[in-house]
Amino acid sequence: MSDKNAVSTVEIPNTNLNVADDTFKGKIKGIINEAMSNNPYFAAGGGLMILGTGLAVARSGIVKLSRVLYRQMIVDLEIQSKDKAYSWFLTWMAKHPQRVSRHLSVRTSFIQHDNGSISTRFNLVPGPGNHWIKYKGAYLHIKRERSAKMIDLQNGSPYETVTLTTLYRDRHLFHEMLDEAKELALKTTEGKTVIYTSFGPEWRKFGQPKAKRAYASVILDRGIKENILKDVQQFMQNGKWYSDRGIPYRRGYLLYGPPGSGKTSFIQALAGELDYNICMLNLSEGNLTDDRLNHLMNNMPERSILLLEDIDAAFNQRAQTQDQGYHSSVTFSGLLNALDGITSSEETITFMTTNHPERLDPAIMRPGRIDYKQFVGNASLYQAQQMFLKFYPEKVELAELFVKELADLKLSVSTAQLQGLFVMNKDDAPAALANIGTLKLTNGIDSHI
Ligand SMILES: Nc1ncnc2c1ncn2[C@@H]1O[C@H](COP(=O)(O)OP(=O)(O)OP(=O)(O)O)[C@@H](O)[C@H]1O
Ligand SMILES: *[C@@H]1O[C@H](CO)[C@@H](O)[C@H](O)[C@H]1NC(C)=O
Ligand SMILES: *[C@@H]1O[C@H](CO)[C@@H](O)[C@H](O)[C@H]1NC(C)=O
Ligand SMILES: *[C@@H]1O[C@H](CO)[C@@H](O)[C@H](O)[C@H]1NC(C)=O
Ligand SMILES: *[C@@H]1O[C@H](CO)[C@@H](O)[C@H](O)[C@H]1NC(C)=O
Ligand SMILES: [Mg+2]
Repeated sequence: MSDKNAVSTVEIPNTNLNVADDTFKGKIKGIINEAMSNNPYFAAGGGLMILGTGLAVARSGIVKLSRVLYRQMIVDLEIQSKDKAYSWFLTWMAKHPQRVSRHLSVRTSFIQHDNGSISTRFNLVPGPGNHWIKYKGAYLHIKRERSAKMIDLQNGSPYETVTLTTLYRDRHLFHEMLDEAKELALKTTEGKTVIYTSFGPEWRKFGQPKAKRAYASVILDRGIKENILKDVQQFMQNGKWYSDRGIPYRRGYLLYGPPGSGKTSFIQALAGELDYNICMLNLSEGNLTDDRLNHLMNNMPERSILLLEDIDAAFNQRAQTQDQGYHSSVTFSGLLNALDGITSSEETITFMTTNHPERLDPAIMRPGRIDYKQFVGNASLYQAQQMFLKFYPEKVELAELFVKELADLKLSVSTAQLQGLFVMNKDDAPAALANIGTLKLTNGIDSHI
């Protein structure tokens, strides 16, 4: 028998025991046996108590240990519903083939085709509850929870979170997954222009992203499009110049002219050309107040052009406010403050349109508010010819005749009216030429104003 350590020095009378068992376990067994048989305290049941306590300690130790192990081996990621990634992730997961989920919820989207028909699509996204997916060989647990108590004050929807859990060694998958989700989301808006409009204090997507309006489809008089595009591009490249000089990095454009001359269409086409989105506000809408305007202009989604339509409305309001008391709408000073107050470090490109430039106060023409002014008028003969060729390609001679007739009629018509005539005589250039007289009838769309 070895007496290398203290344990082995205990005399073990019980011959049943395998005394030759030199292992640690065997020795412990021996001690316990010895204690049990020799110690009256144990015999009295105190031993049981100690054993129980020991077991309890051991159990809580195991629980603690497993918690520690869980913490060490498991990572989770929380995505909150106010984060952009939230809906990206849900859409991505709906498309992910390897998933087990029994709780689904439906998200309906409408798609407007070019031919005008609308189709409805139901996306089954993971609903609240537990889900499992297998991604790149790893299993991920996904839990979508809806808070019953907390409500997102901005849009009144319940506050939600998605929690992803996986093994620590697979944590890099979170990044890859979110990147994939983002790419998927961006793909659906690729080649599209998203139009945002105000909804309370925040910007909301207005309808589905629209196919970009082709830049060439808007026909303005010679040079107008090119000059504006060049100016905007130059502005966008000069961020450093502005920041070096401490000048707010913004530029304002004013397009003015009669209705239907293509102002709004041009801005949409320009946004498409620059791959920007549009944040559109209509100042003659009654509900827009100075506060909201200011807040909205300082919280624009990235890569977007701000489009303020009918800015003369703010000026009418000033006149009205004086005689009719307070009216909840944008005031002249509110507009100026909002334009001056844009503090974004990103570039801010503002386009404004009006049909009544004479109603604008000269104060808005100050640089920093409006830096570039462009008249967009009724169709010139050049525009008429270009539009004719756009609708009836290769009918060069008819286009010449059309322009001549138009000049002889001495009519000033808007490009929208020309478009109306061409749409009425679709695919029939001679008919458009023959019906040129109808422009006279449509002339004065706004004669009642
Ligand atoms: N220069 C143009 N080139 C191509 N299409 C045009 C042009 N002008 C008008 N249109 C067509 O006419 C319609 C109205 O144009 P748009 O809304 O751009 O006019 P607008 O100048 O913004 O008018 P308003 O001052 O009333 O807002 C659109 O369908 C557009 O396609
Ligand atoms: C419109 O186009 C879509 C596809 O582009 C097609 O499914 C649909 O039938 C079309 N509708 C009409 C009325 O032509
Ligand atoms: C702006 O809103 C007013 C009132 O709702 C409407 O009459 C006008 O056509 C709108 N203008 C544009 C450009 O949308
Ligand atoms: C203004 O807001 C009220 C409710 O707040 C709404 O009913 C109304 O339609 C809004 N008007 C416009 C022009 O948006
Ligand atoms: C532009 O065209 C409209 C008709 O659409 C006409 O009433 C108006 O007088 C024209 N403007 C000019 C400056 O000729
Ligand atoms: Mg317009």
